[in-house]
Amino acid sequence: MNSSVQMKPLSLRLVDAINQSNPLQANYLANCCYELNAEEQARFEGYLGFLLERGVSLPYLTECYNTIVEDIKREQYYFVRHKRYRYSSYDEVSASVYLDNGYMERYMYGLGITSFLWPNHVAMNRFFLQHLPKERTGRYLEIGPGHGLHFTTALSLCRYEAYEAVDVSPKSAALTKELVSSLVPGRDGDWNVTISDFLTAELPGQPYHALVMGEVLEHVERPDLFLRRVRDVTSSDAFIYVTTAINAPAIDHIYLLRNAEEFESLVAAAGMRCEHRLVLPYKGKTIEECAEQALPVNLAAVLKKL
Ligand SMILES: C[S@@+](CC[C@H](N)C(=O)[O-])C[C@H]1O[C@@H](n2cnc3c(N)ncnc32)[C@H](O)[C@@H]1O
Repeated sequence: MNSSVQMKPLSLRLVDAINQSNPLQANYLANCCYELNAEEQARFEGYLGFLLERGVSLPYLTECYNTIVEDIKREQYYFVRHKRYRYSSYDEVSASVYLDNGYMERYMYGLGITSFLWPNHVAMNRFFLQHLPKERTGRYLEIGPGHGLHFTTALSLCRYEAYEAVDVSPKSAALTKELVSSLVPGRDGDWNVTISDFLTAELPGQPYHALVMGEVLEHVERPDLFLRRVRDVTSSDAFIYVTTAINAPAIDHIYLLRNAEEFESLVAAAGMRCEHRLVLPYKGKTIEECAEQALPVNLAAVLKKL
């Protein structure tokens, strides 16, 4: 192989491979890696390095990314035609998504990659890093860590004494464990990942001082009950970070939020309020256009208990 190709960062090699396999993505991904700051680039290289060390190849990662893109495209057609998501219950999606290890691995690797390549995901990660308390102590809980990137970030940057994560998917739990063991070694006693539905998970009695729940609310039948449990298990001054997707069809999105106001109503009904909020329209559109045309919007919020 040509040595200049060998020297190219993994992230650029991956983007080249994606663009070659899926030319429609080339426009969307143009310059994406150059828009990351040095720290983000280093984190992306670290994540890809971890995957390659495990024997995951760049062509396979390309396939993982394309799986997400193709799934979203298919569900978007359905959404435009039917004005609703295809599925509305956990039972309809669990076997083919959360409990299918092969699919879940492609999905979570793909999502891990989009968190560095898609502008809205990058912006939400910056918002997370900006607000994540680095000096507070206590107990940290993450719901639905998926690929494990947020959990790993929290463990490496924060001073909480105990870190727990709950994920309904055995594959997500395994991926999170592997990522943490590799990127934050020597901390085995500090963290734990369990396989469970957060709504019914047995949690220790003591409250959590930080709770992170990225891209989970749209995956559950009763986000109202989810948010109430978030409130119940956290301390009065807890850091509560939630992201969700609005008008965003995906194979396992079963609860349709149509705008940010609907999210805020759920939050208020659960006895919380948005202290900080980031609302990101679809690339090239305004929030108003997204509302009129039912286009995807990403939302991240730091919540406070009332
Ligand atoms: C879309 S991924 C989000 C991954 C990551 N948190 C992020 O922000 O990119 C959703 C994750 O939530 C998990 N999940 C879905 N429903 C859940 C539930 N009821 N309880 C716990 N985890 C759940 C899924 O298995 C998956 O790992």
